[in-house]
Parts: sequence; C-alpha cells; structure tokens
Amino acid sequence: MDTSFGYFDDAAREYVITRPDTPWPWINYLGTEDFFSLISNTAGGYCFCRDAKFRRILRYRYNGVPMDAGGRYYYIKDGDTVWNPGWKPCKTPLDRYECRHGMGYSRFIGEKDGLQAELTCWVPLGHRCEVHRLRLTNTGTARKSFQLYSFVEWCLWNASTDMENFQRNLSTGEVEVEGRVLYHKTEYRERRDHYAFFGVNRPFDGFDTDRETFLGMYNGFEAPQQVLSGTSGNSVAHGWSPVASHRFDMALEPGQRDELLFVLGYVENPEDEKFTEQQVINKRRALEMMEAFSTPAQAEASLAALRAFWDGLLSRFTVASAVPELDRTVNIWNQYQCMITFFFSRSASYFESGIGRGMGFRDSNQDLTGIVHMIPERARQRIIDIASTQFPDGGCYHQYQPLSKRGNNDIGGGFNDDPLWLIFGTVAYIKETGDFGILQEPVPFDNQPGTEVSLLEHLKISFSHVTDNLGPHGLPLIGRADWNDCLNLNCFSDNPDESFQTTENQSEGSQAESLMIAGLFVAEGKDFAELLERIGDSDAAGVKQAVAAMEAAVKKDGWDGEWFLRAYDFYGRKIGSDECAEGKVFIESQGWCTMARIGAEEGLCDKALDSAVKYLECDYGMVLNNPAYTAYIKDYGEISTYPEGYKENAGIFCHNNPWVIIGEAMAGRADAAWRHYCKITPAFCQDQRLRKVEPYVFCQMVAGKDAARPGEGKNSWLTGTAAWTWKAVSEFLLGVKPQYDGLLIDPCLPLPYGTYRVHRRFRDAEYDLNIHYTGRRGGCFLPYEAGSHTVDIEL
Ligand code: BGC
Ligand code: NOJ
Repeated sequence: MDTSFGYFDDAAREYVITRPDTPWPWINYLGTEDFFSLISNTAGGYCFCRDAKFRRILRYRYNGVPMDAGGRYYYIKDGDTVWNPGWKPCKTPLDRYECRHGMGYSRFIGEKDGLQAELTCWVPLGHRCEVHRLRLTNTGTARKSFQLYSFVEWCLWNASTDMENFQRNLSTGEVEVEGRVLYHKTEYRERRDHYAFFGVNRPFDGFDTDRETFLGMYNGFEAPQQVLSGTSGNSVAHGWSPVASHRFDMALEPGQRDELLFVLGYVENPEDEKFTEQQVINKRRALEMMEAFSTPAQAEASLAALRAFWDGLLSRFTVASAVPELDRTVNIWNQYQCMITFFFSRSASYFESGIGRGMGFRDSNQDLTGIVHMIPERARQRIIDIASTQFPDGGCYHQYQPLSKRGNNDIGGGFNDDPLWLIFGTVAYIKETGDFGILQEPVPFDNQPGTEVSLLEHLKISFSHVTDNLGPHGLPLIGRADWNDCLNLNCFSDNPDESFQTTENQSEGSQAESLMIAGLFVAEGKDFAELLERIGDSDAAGVKQAVAAMEAAVKKDGWDGEWFLRAYDFYGRKIGSDECAEGKVFIESQGWCTMARIGAEEGLCDKALDSAVKYLECDYGMVLNNPAYTAYIKDYGEISTYPEGYKENAGIFCHNNPWVIIGEAMAGRADAAWRHYCKITPAFCQDQRLRKVEPYVFCQMVAGKDAARPGEGKNSWLTGTAAWTWKAVSEFLLGVKPQYDGLLIDPCLPLPYGTYRVHRRFRDAEYDLNIHYTGRRGGCFLPYEAGSHTVDIEL
C-alpha cells in the first residue's frame, strides 16, 4: 500500500495525512443532521445549514487559484513568523504537520518553533454549529509570547448570487459585534430570519469584521495586514465583504497548554423574536449555543457523544477477515461514505459546487440502501419525501430541493429509469426493517395536498410507468435518458449553449429503447412480485407476466451474440453492438441483465460477463463503454462530448462496477467478482499520487484505459458507488443478505479469504457469524429472531 501522503489508523477510525501538499485537497465532512461542513486537510472549505445553495454560511471560491482558498483559518504570529496549524494559507513550513480525518471530525496538528497547535473541528450532535477546539502548547524551553488570530469569511447566504450579483452584494453586508461574538446578519432586516456568528469562550484583544481592513486591499489570505503588523482594525463591516476575526495576545510558559473554544454557528429566529430593539438581532439562541461549548469538559463530552454516535452506527455491521483493506473499507470508510452521500446526495463536494444539484430521485433511492441498516427511520422519511415528488402517471422530477422538498426542473424530468428506483429503495427498506406498514403511508403527487394515495400505489404506478412506455421491441423507452444521464437519444443538439439534461427536442415517434432499464425492470419486477405476494396483493401475477415478457424481449432483441445490447436509438438502430464502429460494449446492460439473470440457463450471463472482462476491464476497474467515442455523435448526445476515457465516455464510472461484481457473484464467479472489487476500492490503491483524490473514499469516476492518465480519480465522495459497493461487498461477497424473514448467508469470495466473522445487527437481533466458505452455493438461511445469536456456518 502506498503511504506517500498518509495512512489508515483503523483503531481510531481515522485517515492520517502526513503532509499538507496532497495531490488534491483531501476532505472530510462534518455534521449528521442539518448543519454540515466540508473541511479539507488544510482546514479549507465551508459550512451550510440544510441547503448548500440557499443557506451557505462561509464563502468558498470553487475556481480560485490556488484552489481551496478559504476556510477556518487560525494564524499564529510568533515574532516575525506567521503560520497556520493546517499549513494553509501562509504555507509556512511546519516542524510537524498532521491531519486526522475521523468520523465527523477533523484534527490538525501543526508545530513550529516550540509551539504546538492542535485544532479539532466538529459539528456537535443537536447543534447547528461547528466547534473548533484549539489547544496551544509550548513544547520548547523558553516562555513564548505570540498572537493568535481566528478568521472566517461570510457568504451572503445564497451561494449562487453571492458569486454574481455584486452591484447588490457589495452594499448589503451587515454585522454586529457584542461580547465575545461576531455576528453576521446580512439581510436579516427583511425576509430573512437567520444569522450566523463566530464566538469564543474568552474575551479577545481585538477583532475585525471587514475583510479589507483585515487583509488589506491587495493582500490575500496568506498575508493579512493586521496579522503581519500584530494589530486588529476593530472594524465593523458596512457592505463590502463581512468577515470575522478575533485576536488574542498570548503567552505560555514552557510545557504550558492553553485551550480555546470557538463556535461558528447558525440561528433561525421566530418572527416575533427577531429583534431585541430596532435592527438589533435577538442573540439569545447564539448565546445559548456558546454557553453549551464554553468549557473544556463540555467540548470533551460533545466529542465523546459524537464518537458514541458513530460507534453505534458502525457497530451494526462489522467484519473480521484476513484482508485488512477489506475490513477497513467495510467497517469504516464505505459505511461512512454511504452516510455522507445519503446526507448530501450530489449537492456539495469539491466537485459539486452546492449550487447546481439537489436530491436526485434515482440517486437518493440508491443512497438510502447504503444507510438503511444504520438509520432506518431516516431512510423511511427519505422514501416518503422522494415519492411525494412523483407525478400521477409514475413519472417524476429528476431532483428535488432539500429545503423545500419540492421537485424542480433544473435538470429536467422524463428519465425513464427513475420510477423503478422507488421500488428498489422501498424493497431494501422493508427487507431491512420488516416495516411493511410503510406501504400504507399516504403520499401525495407532486407535493399537492389532497392527492395522497398509498406508497404501494406509488410503487404500482412506478412499475406500470415502464409497461406504459414500451418501444417497438417491447423494451422500455429510454425517455430523456436512463441511469446514464449522458446517453441522450431524444436530444439532437447543435447548440453548445443548451444542456443535454433538459433538451429533448425530438421524441415523437422515437424508437429509443434501453436495455439498462429492461434489466432493472426484470430485477426490480421480480422483487416487486415477491413483495406483492407477501402482502397477498393479487397484482403479483400481472407483475410476473410483465417481467416474463420483458425477459423474452431482451433475449429476442436485446442480445448481440456475445453480450447484451445497450440500447436502440431514436431511429431504431443498435447501440452497444458488434455492428457499431465505437461503443460496441457497454457496462450498464451487462450489469443489470446479469443481476436480473436474464438468459442465465442459456449461458447468456456468463458470456456477457466474459465480454465485460474482455472489453471493459483494465488495471483500475471496468470502463463504461468500449471502444470510446472519438467524435461527437448528435444522435447519442453528451456521452460523445467527453474526451475518451473520461466520465460517461469510457471512464471507469465506479457506480456501475458493482453491478458487474454482483452479476459475477450471482453467477458464482468469485475470482472475477473479487478482482473487480479490489480494483475500484481505494484501500487497495497502490499509487496515491496517480489517484490524486482521497485514498479513503470511492470516486464517481477514475480515468479509463483510453484516457491520458488512466487511474486518475475524480469526483470523490458523492456517488452511488458508495451504496452499490456496500451492497456488493456486504450482501454478495461477504454474503449477508437481508430478507423479509431473516438473513440469507450466501458468500462468494476466493477461497483463501473464505474464513471470516461478521457481526450483523438485524432489527432487534444481533448475529455473530463465523463463516467458513468452501465454495458451496445456495447459502444458508437464518430466520429472524430477536436476541443474540452466535452461528457457525460452513458452506
Ligand atoms: C454528468 C453526469 C451527471 C449529469 C447530471 C453530466 O454532465 O456527466 O454524470 O449525471 O451531468 O447533471
Ligand atoms: C451521476 C448522476 O448523479 C447519476 O444520477 C447518474 O446515474 C450518473 N451520473 C450516470 O450518468
């Protein structure tokens, strides 16, 4: 394993970064409820409450140079030397640097000239704030006098207009300074009822709230003029750019340690409690929050509570195997990433700006399957929220805004795979929890009160949305796109200024059909039929019939000879066929049709999986399509706009690799399943510099074999890869599968790794499984029974 930039500390559940100049900012997320932060290994990033676009608290410049400028910066001025515990922004060389990204917190240790700063940042449970605990220790032999400055820059709430409407923004900024707290209250007087604050648990010696006064008009974050001169301007911002900085004049004897607690918080006030006098904000809630973190003991207790929270979540599924990379992925980082992806959908990362995308219909349904074993109640709520945005014909908005929970058309609708994912998410939820009651929950259409029908009805129309939209071969019409947002077969765009996601300018008479949806329909249709039978619903027979018809259609018109076709285009021509010059083989249909086991008896699944290996596999995983498209094809859309080897054009789109891994496992091909899994799993990464992004989380995309630098990762963190690799590894490799009545243990691993233990919390039961897998298929069923069970399983 490559440790050039850091290593895993599994006992602490931390990734330890040992030098600050990582090949790309390596970030962590803080927060578990509705206040969230992104924090990089140099303390860069920002926070927001509930919605990364509309309630952005700290300003962040995505396209800045150098990148990742802005965050929570502490400056230490020790004589003529100015340095930061996280190295940036001054980049003064440190005698020691370490960043530990843990579960919901990040810790930075910087040391310079006999002074050590340990900064721990977290979002406490039950509060809308970041707490920063800064411990300063004199590690030298002489008394040290120095100055400490804090610094954050406020965003004017709407992260989008904050970056564009300067004629207004530069006049709206307002702050208040009172006691130990610097308040940001821009626009509080009118429609807003929220403000932010940055406070500290002791009196300060100076402050600034006006950026120009603090930095100087021509200085950057790396050289604030107040810090350089050891002063504060005591500035009160009026317009321009409000910031918050405290100054402390400090001294430490050798060996002495001091600890400060900063709270960076957010408050919403009820209408009748907004002001204490005209234009003066009511600070009660901020002061209460400050009070909650005013002593070291409170801070320690809050950190302990956070640790206990994650211990609780991560103790529900653990493995002890012979492969440490597997154990740390399963026990720590994959589950953690599933939680983060569930919270954030695709909204805010270092690749998603937090202003463009809300909660995706298909994305969120998949994401919830990665966390349902940890926080089932939140999965339940998410299912209801998602289903509430559906239309009466089963179609749906592609995404909804987390703040309003309403669907929006920003990236369109009419993606014909979308409805099926609701079945996928709901089935996973019920299998985990046994809560069939959710099916009877009243759920509206398009959030319109009075339109409620049961969730079960929503599932039924989701299913029939496919059968109502079949094409000439009896295969599902693709609509605007299926899972692959970039295969835009009803969009014929010559105009570089229009979005492929929202342009559907030719769909009348379209013959564009999707084999990915066909596979998804068969797989989910089988699950749906089983669910309906369970509850004694007579529609089960009709569902089975439709599934059988789809299987027949796939075998007849969806098989290319050695693999499953990908699609038919608008004109009814094949995509993903040996007949095509480029894009002969696609991964999505191999994954879905083999997971659905279409034509398994006739050997189609094995052949399709062999073809995936032959055409798609490379050193870093399986590419999406092969050969890559080398020119723009108007009939296909966005897929052919990407350079070869990137994103949907033959990138290793990690999200879909687990589909083939599961297909391989279902076919009993353990070596291939394991090999594919190891290739995309970051804990096995052999070259951190090449991979570039965080070595502890999955990427959405790793550059494929046709790219300039195969193996280079992008779009880390927020990706369906998290939930899907979780499913692949927990249910298919380790083989612990939740069923309506219990757990099915059905592993598929190379035999040298076949002996392992799994601890699995399942509803009100705890299972300790000692598994010895010798290659026998078929599995072993453990009926659900509350209580603790230790079971030896030999298969
Ligand atoms: C990306 C897709 C993404 C889509 C959604 C495209 O540019 O390539 O991965 O799903 O945008 O907005
Ligand atoms: C990312 C999107 O979030 C997801 O919905 C989509 O399926 C993939 N890209 C593939 O295009």
